[in-house]
Amino acid sequence: NKDKIDLLNKKNEEALLGGGQKRIEAQHKKGKLTARERIHFLLDEGTFQEIDKFVMHRAKDFGLDKEHYLGDGVVTGYGEINGRLVYIYSQDFTVFGGSLSETHAEKICKIMDMAMKNGAPVIGLNDSGGARIQEGVVSLGGYADIFYRNTLASGVVPQISAIMGPCAGGAVYSPAITDFILMVENSSYMFVTGPNVVKTVTQEDVTAEELGGASAHSTKSGVTHFACANEVACMQHIKQLLSYIPQNCEDDAPIYPYEVKDSETREILDKIIPDNTNHPYDMREVIEGIVDESSFMEVHKNYADNIVVGFARIAGRSIGIVGNQPQSLAGVLDNDASVKAARFVRFCDSFNVPLLVLVDVPGFLPGTDQEWNGIIVNGAKLLYAFSEATVPRVTVITRKAYGGAYDVMNSKHIGADLNFAWPSAEIAVMGAKGAAEIIFKREIAVAENPEEKLQEKIDEYTAKFANPYRAAHRGFIDEVIMPSETREKLIKAYKMLENKVDKLPRKKHGNIPL
Ligand code: COA
Repeated sequence: NKDKIDLLNKKNEEALLGGGQKRIEAQHKKGKLTARERIHFLLDEGTFQEIDKFVMHRAKDFGLDKEHYLGDGVVTGYGEINGRLVYIYSQDFTVFGGSLSETHAEKICKIMDMAMKNGAPVIGLNDSGGARIQEGVVSLGGYADIFYRNTLASGVVPQISAIMGPCAGGAVYSPAITDFILMVENSSYMFVTGPNVVKTVTQEDVTAEELGGASAHSTKSGVTHFACANEVACMQHIKQLLSYIPQNCEDDAPIYPYEVKDSETREILDKIIPDNTNHPYDMREVIEGIVDESSFMEVHKNYADNIVVGFARIAGRSIGIVGNQPQSLAGVLDNDASVKAARFVRFCDSFNVPLLVLVDVPGFLPGTDQEWNGIIVNGAKLLYAFSEATVPRVTVITRKAYGGAYDVMNSKHIGADLNFAWPSAEIAVMGAKGAAEIIFKREIAVAENPEEKLQEKIDEYTAKFANPYRAAHRGFIDEVIMPSETREKLIKAYKMLENKVDKLPRKKHGNIPL
């Protein structure tokens, strides 16, 4: 019996070494942690339960029958983060470069199936040279098995992908389907085709980092939601992210203890809107003034910064925030901002996170670039995402809400539950100058002093429409509130909406304009 126990101990020790000490050292030399070290940093101490530790590949070609490693290049299992169950897989670059074999894929699929059955998030730590080249099509089949499950799991359990090394070719499509992608700066990259192929096909000279590093994908493509300074920062981001979201689509986000004070007034909010309505301000200051202290976690921070999205807590409850950002492009909606916000809204709605929409939008960005890149369809994505969202939805119009963008930004008409406006709100078809120039064109042209006439008409239009009261008279705005009382109003609003039940008409699924 002792021999049998020794054998198990020996196998366990062997599995822990992955591709061997030398390759572990090579991994450390690159400034990267190993698959197991990553799990250790991410999960609560002592909670990791490994599954399939002794799985080995079944391939025989190209000498693979003589090269076996226990676990086959991915460590999988379950554990806890802040006491909540998660399923995890962590690719081991020390074993065949973390490449994905048939069995490697089977291990990941097993974890995903368990996560769906038991209703807990899946976290994938990616560090892989792609398909196991020696295995050919069975490895490609393995990828497809994962993609399929990513799709089925979408909207059932949260899926988070951290990229901590290479992730290239078909491999990128698993993270792409998941809810959030995090990348580590200077040690991770994602692309469909690498620099060599790019050079051959387009003659562009580009490094892997430039083409698909964390910076490229967090600023230019928007593929990644978070660029993290290092691997440990990446783990901290994952933990924080999970703190706002429920375990699955039937669950609610955790509520943090908070005792509502007699006064939740925030005087600072009365001072944010500049006197000149064309001057910018930072919507993040509004957010900080409304939500629980230091609870705001911005998503997609460096991409399409004319819209701000992120999670926060208000009186301990999770909310997802979408806010126009007057500080960038005057807060207009453009292609990137619309898609960024639409995706975020859909995540929140999938996982029962109530929405707060902060509006200061002068309209959609004009131009050939915008039109030819589909602002019609992209803007429609945001409109569609809000319209179909059944979570509690509250809007605060801080300043401009012009034209079609007024409708899109969670207006009453598309199903918002409570719509507030600050006294500085201007709810109109367009800005006063543009409006006066169009509707009084002839009157201005024949006037003795056209300049003076224009100003007179601008003033007239401003007096009539550059305020929240026309909309409030109609009930399109439920209440005009002082900025300083916004937090208090929202605490009460989300409490009131706590048991909201809203169902979409029966359908197979909608057809969001993609
Ligand atoms: N299949 C099988 N083995 C692979 C592999 C793959 N896709 N990718 C890497 N490996 C192996 C290497 O043979 C090497 O094995 P060794 O430890 O026995 O020497 C080990 O993984 C590490 O790879 P190496 O090339 O030394 O690491 P690197 O950090 O210099 O480069 C990559 C990493 C990912 C850029 C490089 O390995 C690569 O280009 N891999 C192939 C990518 C690819 O085309 N994949 C298939 C299409 S999706």
